[in-house]
Amino acid sequence: MQRVAIYPGSFDPVTNGHIDIIERGLKIFDKIIVAILHNPGKEYLFNIEERMDMLEKSTKKLENIELDAFNGLLVDFADQRKAQAILRGMRAVSDFEYEFQMALMNRRLNREVQTVFLMTGLRWIFTSSSIIKEAARFGGDVSGMVSSLVNRKLKEKFGFV
Ligand code: PNS
Repeated sequence: MQRVAIYPGSFDPVTNGHIDIIERGLKIFDKIIVAILHNPGKEYLFNIEERMDMLEKSTKKLENIELDAFNGLLVDFADQRKAQAILRGMRAVSDFEYEFQMALMNRRLNREVQTVFLMTGLRWIFTSSSIIKEAARFGGDVSGMVSSLVNRKLKEKFGFV
């Protein structure tokens, strides 16, 4: 049986920390489905096509991954895609409460799907899409935390090129 994990997120935009978790996940899962949350009620900096395009280009060297988008309950999507696990990255302790809550709710909703946490690489411990957007919005240098493509897209979005 193939071990399949869903790696869900907003990916607004994808960061080097996300890629690090995918690469680590590929060492334990046969396939990872990277699933972008497409919630029409939520405001994103990048629309679903832009987020998908950045993810596609940032992961093109990786094998055994698939990109998809979902809306609605994550556990329903996992069921639909026949995934046994939900993969999430854990950074600092501050992530714990939110992740714990989400994992327990997901377990309550579907006991068959296991949440697996992987520790992010130390160098990405403070990397998040939100903090990157905050810095980039005011012209801060975020190169090294995102791919050069995402760096350029952020500059375009905030009018720095
Ligand atoms: O990268 P993010 O924004 O922290 O990812 C959050 C995500 C997409 C994993 C989470 O919001 C999610 O799973 N949303 C779908 C709705 C759902 O199933 N929520 C969890 C149980 S209430």
